Amino acid sequence: CLTPELLHLYSVKDRVVVVVDILRATSCMTTAFAHGVEKIIPVATLEECRALQNQGLLAAAERDAKKADGFDLDNSPFSYMDEKLIGQTIAMTTTNGTQAITKSKEAIQVIIGSFLNKTAIINYLQSQPHHVLILCAGWKGRVNLEDTLFAGAVADELRDGFTIEDDASLGALTIYSCMKYNMLKSMASSSHVKRLHRLNLAKDIEFCIREDLYNVIPVLEGDGLVKMKLP
Ligand code: MLT
Repeated sequence: CLTPELLHLYSVKDRVVVVVDILRATSCMTTAFAHGVEKIIPVATLEECRALQNQGLLAAAERDAKKADGFDLDNSPFSYMDEKLIGQTIAMTTTNGTQAITKSKEAIQVIIGSFLNKTAIINYLQSQPHHVLILCAGWKGRVNLEDTLFAGAVADELRDGFTIEDDASLGALTIYSCMKYNMLKSMASSSHVKRLHRLNLAKDIEFCIREDLYNVIPVLEGDGLVKMKLP
């Protein structure tokens, strides 16, 4: 599913949903759990995030790729490598990524995908019996290239064991097949890449497209994301 706005066309009740927001929400979440964060509570609005902050939680808030005023953490994966965050619970709201998560709560399971934990995601999906929906966070209701590339990369790896059900998956797979040999160059004209460059965040882009740095899978349990216990 190439944007959450199309989610109503799919039944998530019988699917495992992989939420992806490569630049940068799900890359941040994956990095955070790999570096010892205990729990992340994804919320849709700044107000909900502020309320959790007022209860004493650390709060991360991003809008239009910038840290929202008055919050503790931004949306750069490098901000989640801080040893002070080990064992912490963080409330988080982002422009697109946390919106996609909060819209998926009826799924059998919601897990968090990024290039950083791509193989962990693929191995897990291959080991479970359910249908899969890869939900691209996109940008404010529009398709974006980087999330589509991730969906294509996962579809490429899963196509032997799964039936590709729709043209969105087929399209993502085709785009990935064309671009996989030089992702950074291929993504250069993506709207969000250009937005991040304008904010001098090129290092975030380069980091978020690195593959398999981390063998962790964030999974939604109740109101928050925790690190899945992997075999
Ligand atoms: C998003 O939610 O789309 C991203 O997290 C935005 C960003 O961090 O640049």
